[in-house]
Amino acid sequence: VTQTLQCAISRTADPYQIEIGSGLVARQTPFLRSLAAQFAIITDQQVAIHHGHKLAENLRRDGLSTHLFSFPTGERYKTRETKEHLENQLFEQGLGRDTCIIALGGGVVTDLAGYVAATYCRGLPLVMMPTSLLAMVDASVGGKTGVNVPYGKNMLGCVYQPKKVVIDLALLHSLPKQELMQGVVEMLKHGVIADETLFTYLETQAQYILNLNDVVLEKVIFDSCRIKKEIVEQDEQGLTKRHWLNFGHTVGHALECLSDYSLPHGEAVAIGMLVEAHLSMQAAGLSPMAFERIRVAFERYGLPLHLPREFPVDEMLDAIALDKKSLRGRPRFVLTSAIGCAPQCTHVEESLLRQALQWMTKSIRLYRA
Ligand SMILES: NC(=O)c1ccc[n+]([C@@H]2O[C@H](COP(=O)([O-])OP(=O)(O)OC[C@H]3O[C@@H](n4cnc5c(N)ncnc54)[C@H](O)[C@@H]3O)[C@@H](O)[C@H]2O)c1
Ligand SMILES: [Zn+2]
Repeated sequence: VTQTLQCAISRTADPYQIEIGSGLVARQTPFLRSLAAQFAIITDQQVAIHHGHKLAENLRRDGLSTHLFSFPTGERYKTRETKEHLENQLFEQGLGRDTCIIALGGGVVTDLAGYVAATYCRGLPLVMMPTSLLAMVDASVGGKTGVNVPYGKNMLGCVYQPKKVVIDLALLHSLPKQELMQGVVEMLKHGVIADETLFTYLETQAQYILNLNDVVLEKVIFDSCRIKKEIVEQDEQGLTKRHWLNFGHTVGHALECLSDYSLPHGEAVAIGMLVEAHLSMQAAGLSPMAFERIRVAFERYGLPLHLPREFPVDEMLDAIALDKKSLRGRPRFVLTSAIGCAPQCTHVEESLLRQALQWMTKSIRLYRA
């Protein structure tokens, strides 16, 4: 079975669907044919090996004129230079306005290929085919695209909506386990900020998710996409819920920065969620039992919560003050009063923040050398 979510995120772009199911990538030919005459699959080199060449062959066999472009794998290639290089390759192949871009890959690919689609010939139709769990539940939902620059992450880009998002669960079988965790953390975040039923389901179904059970995955990915989509849609209508999505991210980003990005985003956010849940206990009435549930949930997924080195509390406070949610140098946090219950974005007393960071220093172990 295929589940479908309707997206009407932007008033200027056509509404479109997010489809979730197993084996979907191979069934897109009729839809694709209606979009364009030529197809440019953009992917990274690792995803090209696992899925890109096969998809290109399938589309060609179905009679679609298809080109495959790949760039080296990794966040450090999400740059203007890679974008320029891909654009040159598209021009050299003579691809013009009758071309559809297919973004096949993790969040690096969906962000970069989405940005190429947004500007090439002033905008080409775009189809997202996320291949990592993180791209499925986060990066491919909402339409944000962009690249990193030496001045900061995601500092160049735009919002550009695709014609469809195709979430094919079968693609996850080649995804490394550590990458699967990156997506699990954001799904748990979606549960904490907006849906206790999802959180409870994620708590109890960890083994099924880790074993890539299709039925369970389809459900949690659907709910997770729905939550992010609704938050982004309502944000477009002027209801500012977007900050909910930053739960765990104020502290998480500070940890990523202080570790020089050696700490993966998912792990940094997981630790950040715990610190912000700790703050929520002190400042927003989150019950100790709810805090414990969040802590144990990460354990159930075997998420390794370790810090790469000791971070003195004052160093943490400085890094946190740089967060983009800060107002006049005072950081704000997304705090929740209960799992699934609309969080608030607020300032906290520095003494409470210190306590939460001291809890972290004491409770999160360092990597063994
Ligand atoms: N646009 C947004 O709203 C948004 C939201 C969250 C994150 N992001 C962005 O997403 C990026 C992170 O995404 P990510 O974690 O997917 O990273 P990624 O794209 O680098 O993918 C992680 C790794 O998994 C590999 N991979 C992906 N799918 C695979 C598959 N099916 N089989 C085998 N290997 C596979 C990739 O080659 C890569 O090595 C960041 O750049 C972040 O800024 C964007
Ligand atoms: Zn995140």
